Amino acid sequence: EKGGFDWFMRKEIYEQPKAVADTLLGRHDASGALRLDEIRISQAELRAVDKIIVIACGTSFYAGLVAKYAIEHWTRVPCEVELASEFRYRDPIVGPTTLVVTISQSGETADTLMAIRHAREQKAKVLAICNTNGSTIPRESDAVIYTHAGPEIGVASTKGFLTQLVACYLLGLYLAQVRGTKFGDEIAVLIEELDKIPAAIEGQLGDMAGVLQLAADFAEAPSVLFLGRHVGYPVALEGALKLKELAYIHAEGFAAGELKHGPIALIENELPVFVVMPPQGRDMLHDKVISNIQEIRARGARTIVLAEEGDADAGPYADVMITLPKVPTLLQPLVAIVPLQIFACELATRKGHDVDQPRNLAKSVTVE
Ligand code: BG6
Repeated sequence: EKGGFDWFMRKEIYEQPKAVADTLLGRHDASGALRLDEIRISQAELRAVDKIIVIACGTSFYAGLVAKYAIEHWTRVPCEVELASEFRYRDPIVGPTTLVVTISQSGETADTLMAIRHAREQKAKVLAICNTNGSTIPRESDAVIYTHAGPEIGVASTKGFLTQLVACYLLGLYLAQVRGTKFGDEIAVLIEELDKIPAAIEGQLGDMAGVLQLAADFAEAPSVLFLGRHVGYPVALEGALKLKELAYIHAEGFAAGELKHGPIALIENELPVFVVMPPQGRDMLHDKVISNIQEIRARGARTIVLAEEGDADAGPYADVMITLPKVPTLLQPLVAIVPLQIFACELATRKGHDVDQPRNLAKSVTVE
């Protein structure tokens, strides 16, 4: 059942083009208008929403951080993202016009479930993004968007994460459609761009020699840092989490703009630092991240730069370049995380670790 792969995780990474395509399937009509039939919250209620709170744990939380950038940009509704385990213990401000969006691959995570119960007691509407049909979280929610990743066996989420991102984008665009904050043709263009993502990932997966080499080169690194800005920041966090979970080495993700406020003190000779470059159109951010790369390179770091094709600006300061397909800025996490998943998986297998069942972790955590 591993389909010729030695680990479920490798198989699941390579299934991502299909998982993304399946999650997009049937969600829009020929004109590009979105139809999210599973949302059993009325359009009037969705128009009345004045705050969105996204709640999740682990990798699902990082999908939520990406969702904030997209949802606020497309809908102009304030969106917070919160760790499920923190939510109900801080007396959060939640009411009937709050839309709580929970993200959970398994649909059984106790921290997330408890947060949902608290939100519903306060009369908030709860929409679950979930990969497991009929699991507890969608059953206890007002509405659900199922991700169609298929069963994910590897404990560290890969295709689950990508499909959660897709569901978040669909939700953001749907809210924009319902609330009239984006015109139909703008939504159709973004849907068209989403539809191109499976082929883009397929292309990346066919060309991973550079990433495999990196996994060999850095197999003995005691620590690895990841930097990103805007939607590249959650990608940095997720890249680091994958490495912690699978390879058991110290890894941290930082917002590149925070570098000078602390993390730069960690930079020393030979420290590998992955940097996710914002797409070239984001000129200010792009240039600022180039400066960050120069700063860490000058202090001896080994810089591994993920930049979209045609972006040569970081070339002079990068020890290694990893090319990403050109996609709209907000969608970049869908392609930027793929090489980082493979890096973590390959580095961990080189160290002889079981990447399907990392030590001390469980696929669904049903205790708070
Ligand atoms: C953790 C898993 O326990 O739960 C992570 O090890 C996962 O991989 C997290 O991201 C959240 O799980 P879920 O099912 O709620 O998305």
